[in-house]
Amino acid sequence: NPITIAIDGPSGSGKSSVSKQVARELGLTYLDTGAMYRALTWWCLQQGIDLTDTQEVAEQALTYPLEIGTDPDAPSIHVGGTDVAAAIRETALSEQVSHIATNLAVRATMRDQQRQLIADARHAGAGIVVEGRDITTVIAPDADHRFLLTASEEARLARRARELFDTDDAQAIAATHNQIVRRDAADATVSAFFEPAPGVVGIDTSDLTFEQSVGAVLDAIAQ
Ligand code: ADP
Ligand code: CDP
Repeated sequence: NPITIAIDGPSGSGKSSVSKQVARELGLTYLDTGAMYRALTWWCLQQGIDLTDTQEVAEQALTYPLEIGTDPDAPSIHVGGTDVAAAIRETALSEQVSHIATNLAVRATMRDQQRQLIADARHAGAGIVVEGRDITTVIAPDADHRFLLTASEEARLARRARELFDTDDAQAIAATHNQIVRRDAADATVSAFFEPAPGVVGIDTSDLTFEQSVGAVLDAIAQ
């Protein structure tokens, strides 16, 4: 029977990189739900839609032309035929996503779409690793394995600074601070993701290497 693994965590906890590697090592497919919230944000901005117009954005969520791939070796995301993989990671867009993420009608639509993508993978005979903010609690509370990755604010800032600026000196940390801390605060209104829900395995990656984080998840699955 194809397995489902759910992984949640705040920005910089390592959930994307760890989820992808776990999927590769176990031969599973991979779904990045954050990319879906980002892609909808990109589409609405492209269409000139006011992101605070909750009704209009909710309608777009039902109809926007999303294509998302689930191969962990080649994660792909297109909207209306345009490859948006790079555009949805830009800082200016990242700062806008919380408008979309706090829209409850959008969340209901995302839930249905994400559950359908999980069902499609299982139907094709593939297990799946699904990562985001509400996977262990809302999208797939019945997953075979559920994890919450956490890390100190300090560790998460240093990782993002290294990703964005190739260094974690004081200036890079300062430039990253707004993004991480402000987004954490905005996200906290839709999900409390620093405490694992009952039955969810919490892993603090602050003092782990990337390989050790992957190992911790694989060990817990093997038990
Ligand atoms: P998230 O999806 O939670 O925002 P990412 O996986 O995108 O996190 O980014 C985490 C970054 O931190 C990656 O560049 C990763 O290589 C690095 N990293 C450093 N140490 C760790 C660790 N212990 N666990 C996971 N990632 C780590
Ligand atoms: O990689 P990072 O954690 O920085 O962001 P992401 O996983 O790509 O998610 C981007 C944004 O989408 C988050 O800040 C949340 O606002 C939202 N999101 C969500 O609300 N629910 C999810 N399941 C996934 C993402």
